[in-house]
Amino acid sequence: MSRSRAVCLCLCPDAMLQTTLAVLSGLAASVAALDPVEVYGNKFFNKDGSQFFIKGVAYQLVPDDPLIDTNQCKLDAGLMKDLGANAIRVYHVDASKDHDGCMKAFDDAGVYVMLDMDTFNTYIEPTMLYWNSSQFEKFSDVMDTFQKYDNLLGLFVGNENIAKRQDSPVAPFIKAAARDMKAYRDRKGYRKIPVGYSAADIQELRPMLQNYLTCGGNSSEIVDFFALNSYSWCDPSTYQQSTYDKLQEYAKNFPVPIFFSETGCNVPGPRKFDDMDAIFGKLMINDWSGAMVYEWIQEENNYGLIQYGPPTKKQNKRADDAVVGGFTRKGTPTPKNPDFNNLKTKWASLHPTGVSKADHDTKSISTRDCPTSTSGGWWQVNGNVKLPTLGETKTGAFESSPSATADPSATATSGSKAGDKTGSTGSGSQSSSGPKATGGSGSNDKQNSADRPLALFGASFAALVLSLAILL
Ligand SMILES: *[C@@H]1O[C@H](CO)[C@@H](O)[C@H](O)[C@H]1NC(C)=O
Ligand SMILES: *[C@@H]1O[C@H](CO)[C@@H](O)[C@H](O)[C@H]1NC(C)=O
Repeated sequence: MSRSRAVCLCLCPDAMLQTTLAVLSGLAASVAALDPVEVYGNKFFNKDGSQFFIKGVAYQLVPDDPLIDTNQCKLDAGLMKDLGANAIRVYHVDASKDHDGCMKAFDDAGVYVMLDMDTFNTYIEPTMLYWNSSQFEKFSDVMDTFQKYDNLLGLFVGNENIAKRQDSPVAPFIKAAARDMKAYRDRKGYRKIPVGYSAADIQELRPMLQNYLTCGGNSSEIVDFFALNSYSWCDPSTYQQSTYDKLQEYAKNFPVPIFFSETGCNVPGPRKFDDMDAIFGKLMINDWSGAMVYEWIQEENNYGLIQYGPPTKKQNKRADDAVVGGFTRKGTPTPKNPDFNNLKTKWASLHPTGVSKADHDTKSISTRDCPTSTSGGWWQVNGNVKLPTLGETKTGAFESSPSATADPSATATSGSKAGDKTGSTGSGSQSSSGPKATGGSGSNDKQNSADRPLALFGASFAALVLSLAILL
């Protein structure tokens, strides 16, 4: 659209009127299309300098990639607009496919998209410590494919890779992945698409992990944002009972934006989403950038906000079938109430303005020390260890880096068997259809986690683990 043309056509009133109308409608279209959101300090900002807060939902109708069925995306995006959502999170995509239709459908509905770059065979493993070019290239493919969309909000290098007591040694690999993907982004001249991590809310690991991923004093080596999957607020609850007060304590003046990448405990239900009052209320709003609610589709885990039809006895396994695992996965979405309306009403009542970019005082932002390992404790990465290089596999101890106060005797538990994780906790595959048993946070969460069914796609993950175990 060219503004200059409107100016130079002033000799012909009709043409001018037409051009003006064309320019105006062009403007209207460009206003409707979303502008990229950027990170500045420890917050997200819109292009106009206003602060951006996430009101999102997890969206993974099918295991491999829900962003290739344009018609389906349109149907869902329309109802998301009605819900008041401005973002979705998608856990698995296939970079080789065409995403133009879906990305536009969500853009038209005012919805940003956050993506996990890993998929089933590129997940950064907590039990086999490596970060190599097979993963890097697949992550790059996702970035290459999606960087052109202005409504791409951010990219995750991992989801809940650290989910058990012995998992912390994978943390330097997560940081290495963030380092390499940020360097790749900058090398390619892409905009500063935020690259971050989505953590399981495990009380014994979370404070150390969030500090570790943002420590060390080199902005090229830290995550651009930190996100938390937390199910510790189960309605009815309170700020204290849910332990959100503790989450807030650790998030105070956090070095980078921090938000909930999954929330929405459904035990006992129905969900009132009262935690949104806390997240968008005065106690947390200065430090948190919003929340993604788990999840859009109703499936076996019973977290759905909508459904495409009643549960059925059919158990088709093929991803291109409308029914997988007893749930219809395409068609016209119907709100599942009272949850859908509860969330809609809640979000409609919450309109934080936050701070403008110009007024955001970045001097108030904290820096974090790299945590030291505690003898016999859960956190085993001692200080600012030397990050793995691309292609590195870990079998021994992490070396401390020059700036570390570290005791270099900290060892990596690389010896645990891949087979250990089948089942209760685990990795990317489970995230596609359900919160996992993280088993660490507040007592509500523990109780809740025991009730969470094994994910629908856990079977394929188990198969992957099995094949890895055989290879070993
Ligand atoms: C990366 O490591 C995985 C697991 O050991 C292996 O299967 C893959 O071949 C490696 N890729 C490269 C390029 O070495
Ligand atoms: C910061 O990290 C990057 C990426 O690892 C590295 O190239 C750079 O030299 C580091 N800067 C300093 C001052 O250490």
